Amino acid sequence: MAPDKPIVAITRYIPPAGTAALEGKVNIRQRPDKYAPPRDELIRLLQGADAALVQLSDRIDGELLDACPMLKIVANMAVGYENVDHAAAAQRGVWVSNTPDVLTDATADLTLAIILAITRRIVETDGYMRQGAFKQWEPMLWLGSGLQGKVLGIVGYGRIGRAVAARARAFGMSIVYHDPGVSPAGDDRGLDLDELLATADIVSLHCPYKPELHHLIGARALSLMKPTAFFVNAARGKLHDEQALCTALKEGRIAGAALDVYENEPAFVAGLAELKNVVMVPHIGSATLETRNAMAALAANNILAVLGGGEPLTPVNKPAQGK
Ligand code: DGY
Repeated sequence: MAPDKPIVAITRYIPPAGTAALEGKVNIRQRPDKYAPPRDELIRLLQGADAALVQLSDRIDGELLDACPMLKIVANMAVGYENVDHAAAAQRGVWVSNTPDVLTDATADLTLAIILAITRRIVETDGYMRQGAFKQWEPMLWLGSGLQGKVLGIVGYGRIGRAVAARARAFGMSIVYHDPGVSPAGDDRGLDLDELLATADIVSLHCPYKPELHHLIGARALSLMKPTAFFVNAARGKLHDEQALCTALKEGRIAGAALDVYENEPAFVAGLAELKNVVMVPHIGSATLETRNAMAALAANNILAVLGGGEPLTPVNKPAQGK
């Protein structure tokens, strides 16, 4: 360990581009594990470190920051940052950064992938093939639901929502969106949420999680959707009420759902996995090698910028006074 170099704590194993960006410039203190550290271990790891490269399962709050007064930046390797109390960090002179843009395409691609998986019954039919059940082509075999001419309702019309819209247009869909912060543009129609829910053939969430959006899609919202419509969430699990969703799917009140995220990850409500009208993947929106390397490198470069006396490239707060 070079005594003249700052210490960067990394809470677990990350894609190589992240560590490569830091190597030789800082002292790296990294847990080699693939799972998140327990709270006490997290605090110990970050104590005495000048910077922390953390993941969305690492909770960074005022108490932790007080226990780790050397920290100048907490670089979250995710675009979402609800795990970090960025206001508490700003008060303590600590920068917080995230990793926007680099994961937009991968997340939008995954959203289209799970939309196609549920509407064209890809998972069910894969199982059918593996069981050796395919006897011959049939005119009515495994009919799905097409996208051409359908309406995609996007809740949260930011970078990822728009990237999903661009892809959906190529499939012949028209777009409506709900986002109080966005003014109407192009052919896409901004609607209030109830109107969007009643109009869309597919409702897809792309907003960040905030406490005021908890259970944005609950029993009432689901009851407004068409019985032929599909619900998609590749944003954050706490935006939907998973028990209400499971009941709606079970009772056939909506046609299906495709989920990348869960209300209490990694758990999901009992009964969900038994349903045929749901496709479930394990929070893999940004999970391509290229994207995860880019996220790790951006988090590392945010750290280097702050340790070099500057500002992060992609900050989410602004400390009144730097350290
Ligand atoms: C994020 O970045 O917020 C995702 O959920 C993980 O890539």
